[in-house]
Amino acid sequence: MRIGVLTGGGDCPGLNAAIRAVVRAATKRGWTVVGFIDGWAGVLRRRTMPLGVANTDEALPIGGTLLGSSRTNPMRKPEEYAKVRAVFADEQLDALVAIGGDDTLSVAAALTRDGHAVVGIPKTIDNDVPETDTCIGFDTAVGVVVDALARLRTTTTSHHRITVVEAMGREAGWLAATGGIAGGADFIMVPERPGKLSDIIAHVQGRRTRGLDYSMIVVSEGAEIEGLQTAEAAVQQADQFGHVTLGSRSVGETLATALGAAVGVEARSSVLGHLQRGGSPTPFDRMLGTRCGVAAVQYIADGKFGVLTALQGGDIHAVPLTAIGGKQRLLDPTYFELLTLFD
Ligand code: F6P
Repeated sequence: MRIGVLTGGGDCPGLNAAIRAVVRAATKRGWTVVGFIDGWAGVLRRRTMPLGVANTDEALPIGGTLLGSSRTNPMRKPEEYAKVRAVFADEQLDALVAIGGDDTLSVAAALTRDGHAVVGIPKTIDNDVPETDTCIGFDTAVGVVVDALARLRTTTTSHHRITVVEAMGREAGWLAATGGIAGGADFIMVPERPGKLSDIIAHVQGRRTRGLDYSMIVVSEGAEIEGLQTAEAAVQQADQFGHVTLGSRSVGETLATALGAAVGVEARSSVLGHLQRGGSPTPFDRMLGTRCGVAAVQYIADGKFGVLTALQGGDIHAVPLTAIGGKQRLLDPTYFELLTLFD
């Protein structure tokens, strides 16, 4: 067997663990593995690299992806999609492992519908791929948010300030919610639960009347706050899948400025940005990447194609890619109460 592997979309820690596991499990079976460079861009341009034990063995603790990644969408033009389909014959691939988020997996789902042998592995710090309890990279990113909150808390309390921490998360607030709750934030704003600026002002004022003269607020980059004017219309740019770059909304900074003015105390903002996507993967992400990589190869060996390696209740299950492609898993409403419970 000869199989291909690629990583698409935003990088995250744990991708190399998955690549390494795919390579190990495949070479143990006597298969060869070819890596596509920079996701679907590498498939389109036929940019490949041979993968073996020697060039993946040390990859486990290293963040990012040794294959490179891109947000290239080959579905935009029929001729590009045709070129992607032709890669199976051109490269003599028996199967392709696509490691990515909803965008990358939507291409994998289309290939599945067209009869190609594809297996998907879910990754994204946004944690919004349906059918899986968690995605590769999320746990590490949550750790970054928690660590940032711990560091920011001491300077915030020392200066009796308001600190607003902006976390990534375009449409899904998993990262802000989980990082914020685990890091002890007193107010968390996520895209799934729009709120009003006046409510956040009242929250901060309420704390101060109770003797809590500081506040730690976490906001997702995509959160909607009624009464707050963000920079979105002027500066948004879209990627090939149509997603805007929300970091430029500056929701954290805008919120901090508005709160400082309304409450009459000093307010600061910290944008965690790509720090959340970097660094060495946690043991959880190393394990998840490894388990997904091994499962993907097992599915290929079993002739089980068109599936995602989904973590469900502690076990990895094969879930049809067509059931998840193009869909999103938003923050569970049971989290909503926790977003402001520790006010
Ligand atoms: O898709 C993951 C993600 O980290 C989002 O949370 C964020 O909005 C986006 O990627 C940032 O993408 P880029 O690295 O292209 O700026």
